[in-house]
Amino acid sequence: MVKVDLSSNEIKILKALQGGTLSPSEASLASGLGEKETMSAASWLRSKGLVKISEKSTTFYLTNNEGQKYAEEGLPERRAAEWLNQFGESPIEDLPLDEGEKKVVVGWLKRKNFVDLEKTEGGLKLVPTGNLNETPDEPLLVLLNRRPISEKKVDKEGLTLLKGRQLLETREEITRKFSLTPDGQNFDLKSIDDNLIGELTPEMIQSGVWKDKVFQRYGLDTNVEPTDHATLHPLTHFTEEIRSIFLQMGFTEIEGDYVESAFWNMDALFIPQDHPARELQDTFYLSEPASFVINDEETMDRVKAIHEDGGETESVGWGSDWSREVAQQALLRTHTTVGTIRYLSEHSEPPIRVFSVGRVFRREALDATHLPEFTQVEGIIVEPEANFGMLIGVLKEFYRRMGFPDVRVRPAYFPYTEPSMEVEVKFGDSWLELGGSGIFRPEVTAPFGIDCPVLAWGLGLERLAMLRLGIKDIRMLYQSDLQWLKETI
Ligand code: PHE
Repeated sequence: MVKVDLSSNEIKILKALQGGTLSPSEASLASGLGEKETMSAASWLRSKGLVKISEKSTTFYLTNNEGQKYAEEGLPERRAAEWLNQFGESPIEDLPLDEGEKKVVVGWLKRKNFVDLEKTEGGLKLVPTGNLNETPDEPLLVLLNRRPISEKKVDKEGLTLLKGRQLLETREEITRKFSLTPDGQNFDLKSIDDNLIGELTPEMIQSGVWKDKVFQRYGLDTNVEPTDHATLHPLTHFTEEIRSIFLQMGFTEIEGDYVESAFWNMDALFIPQDHPARELQDTFYLSEPASFVINDEETMDRVKAIHEDGGETESVGWGSDWSREVAQQALLRTHTTVGTIRYLSEHSEPPIRVFSVGRVFRREALDATHLPEFTQVEGIIVEPEANFGMLIGVLKEFYRRMGFPDVRVRPAYFPYTEPSMEVEVKFGDSWLELGGSGIFRPEVTAPFGIDCPVLAWGLGLERLAMLRLGIKDIRMLYQSDLQWLKETI
């Protein structure tokens, strides 16, 4: 004997099937359940091994657009033959048919024995035979134009003719039948209380009827059909997760604009004016506006001095002339570090802990691991006691909270940090580079009067998302494949 929990709808269907195989509508009639409830109860019973649902697909034929036209007007050879019988023999060109029809009509007129062909000096002539007998394709075309007919019931000869002329289309229909499996047949329905309460109503509680009834048990381990629900995009989801991690770690969020000047995006970060990353093939420069006028002369002068000879710092700078025009160029920000340095230009008092999550733009060719727009997770800590060990600790803690316990760092180079490092996380057997970080150089901090260490990092969000989601192609994140989005997270 099988021991399974059944809902009251399932019991109704099981009972209805005692009499033998039923179609869904018959089962619905016999059980008193709606069509939808019937289907759902039957598929539950199937998953419990008590009911078999067999599916048979049947092909139906119906007219396509051209078929419909001919069903209404008559086949071209029929129209031609009737015309020839009325007006007598004539060349093809004279037939009252359109050009497409004229191309096919002679073959059919001959095949159906409606005309004889006669060669004359002026070309072919059609001579009516007097035969106008109907062939099976004609009545069938009219029938199929009224309603689809199943393969089994359709006239075979007519069908072959009409299919050959491509006047029909097909439609598949699935018919389902429910029947009991051996387990379903052996199921002891008598042992089951069909008075089960599936839902407890206020009335039942008031009247107390529930006391004599048995509650339906819930099968907590049965699979539930997936529902069609709205979800957050995985990147939005991760962004929220990251926000909450940094907020919990005592950070405040900052925001910035996509359109920036080279001055803030690069010069203020001590990126030399001849740095390769500034070139057209790496950075999106704007044509409108093509440049910004930067009014803060004092800051400009300090940055200029730093670049040219190190200004008041011990640095010797880059040792070449600094151009205002180059600094004033407008661009799409290439990193969120621009937001960080802007913030520092206005807030130089420690302690500072700020972060941002934002889109950045680089002229990258699109492929499975590169996007021309992507998202950076940026942050800084400004504290007198801050040091490199603390930076590693904070980043490790961030990745641990994101689900990556194995993190390692490697030396790297950025013009604005010293020391600099690359952060890698372990995924499977390999280490993946997810971002850069370091301590801002005095050339970056001095012009803004900051004299304690600034720990900084800029991490990639999409690569992290790829690891978390197990996808191999970064483009998946921006493709809006609804099915994938619904099934993800
Ligand atoms: N801005 C760097 C990048 O885009 C990352 C970084 C941020 C490095 C802060 C050091 C400090 O790759």
